[in-house]
Amino acid sequence: MCGVDFPNPFLLASGPPTANAELISKGFERGWGGAVTKTIVGRGVKIENVSPRLAVLKCGSKVVAMQNIELVTTRTLDEWIKDIRSLKNTWPDRVLIGSVMATYDEKEWQSVVDEVQSAGVDMLELNLSCPHGMPERGAGAAIGQNPEMVRDVVSWVKDVAYVPVLAKLTPNVTDISAIARAAEEGGADGISAINTVLGFVGIDLDGMNPILNVSGKTSFGGISRMAIKPIGLRCVAEIAKATNLPISGIGGISSWRDALEYMLLGANTVQVCTAVMLRGFGIIGDMIHGLRKFMEEKGYGEVSEVVGLALKSIVSFEELPKEKKIAKIDTENCSKCYSCVKSCSDGGFNAITVTNGYPEVDAKKCDGCGLCVCVCPNGCIRLEVV
Ligand SMILES: Cc1cc2nc3c(=O)[nH]c(=O)nc-3n(C[C@H](O)[C@H](O)[C@H](O)COP(=O)(O)O)c2cc1C
Repeated sequence: MCGVDFPNPFLLASGPPTANAELISKGFERGWGGAVTKTIVGRGVKIENVSPRLAVLKCGSKVVAMQNIELVTTRTLDEWIKDIRSLKNTWPDRVLIGSVMATYDEKEWQSVVDEVQSAGVDMLELNLSCPHGMPERGAGAAIGQNPEMVRDVVSWVKDVAYVPVLAKLTPNVTDISAIARAAEEGGADGISAINTVLGFVGIDLDGMNPILNVSGKTSFGGISRMAIKPIGLRCVAEIAKATNLPISGIGGISSWRDALEYMLLGANTVQVCTAVMLRGFGIIGDMIHGLRKFMEEKGYGEVSEVVGLALKSIVSFEELPKEKKIAKIDTENCSKCYSCVKSCSDGGFNAITVTNGYPEVDAKKCDGCGLCVCVCPNGCIRLEVV
């Protein structure tokens, strides 16, 4: 990607798992192909975190979303310079990407970029996307939500950068393609997408306090984890269609399958943050093994061969085939749970009734919406063209 060789396409995204050299080293030991440092800022920028700054939304025992209001690194630029040097000494084959942030100020950007690249990073990632805390100071999404500012910042950085530059974009915009094109016009070598989605995980009904409760107060924060994967996939596909830039796909990835979906929609590499926070660096083992097995079984040699393969199926609504379809139920595998009957009755077209104990579709009433296919736990309903 961007002329840089990656031992594998799996990177640790900027966040708590990349907060210092010790953690990044641990990740590399487990097999991660690269890492994006926690976002580094210039000298004299004061960063003060609140506690707590993380909260989750669960479905049963599964964490489906995390909200964070963590700021960028609290460590100094000089500490990071030492870390980058030692990481590149110990792990010369891994890709180290320096994430950097500044306000809309040419000198500020060029100074932090200069120091971080001189320390030896292989690439830079411009954080134009943090949605909480930093925008209030004129950084992060305050820049990434404005195409002119994105173009300017990327071109200021490109004036001094001698390593490839990725622009990390926010999904919290009306049209991410326009922002990605602005980054391309500014000279970006690639795009990282997405940063977190601005959100709010909820209210604890007992105390009527926000779930992310900072001594009775809260702020909107960045949502990550599997709940944002559909948004990340859509953004990556849009960027792949709108630009000619390589993409590092991010958002809700916790398995090789998630990663592969991003690749099929145009991502050359992928990044993972929250899944590592919840399950540890060791998840990389299954990710590499699963992707390798899939590639071997399907006869692919290089990740680049699968990048963007599914993009051609994404068209405008007008271009979609309009043929009529109706539901067909394979009663052999039906467990008679009647989920399809209930859903079709109250959320569909009341086209499924029970006959001799099994659900049966009334072809005249069925409108082919696919709700029954969505709710069937046994996968025994499909739509057929009539
Ligand atoms: C606690 C936390 C801190 C983060 N800090 C940063 C950061 O400093 N810089 C950055 O670019 N992204 C940061 N991110 C965003 C992640 O890099 C990533 O874009 C986002 O979490 C979506 O990926 P995920 O679903 O795999 O976590 C942070 C995310 C979390 C959860």
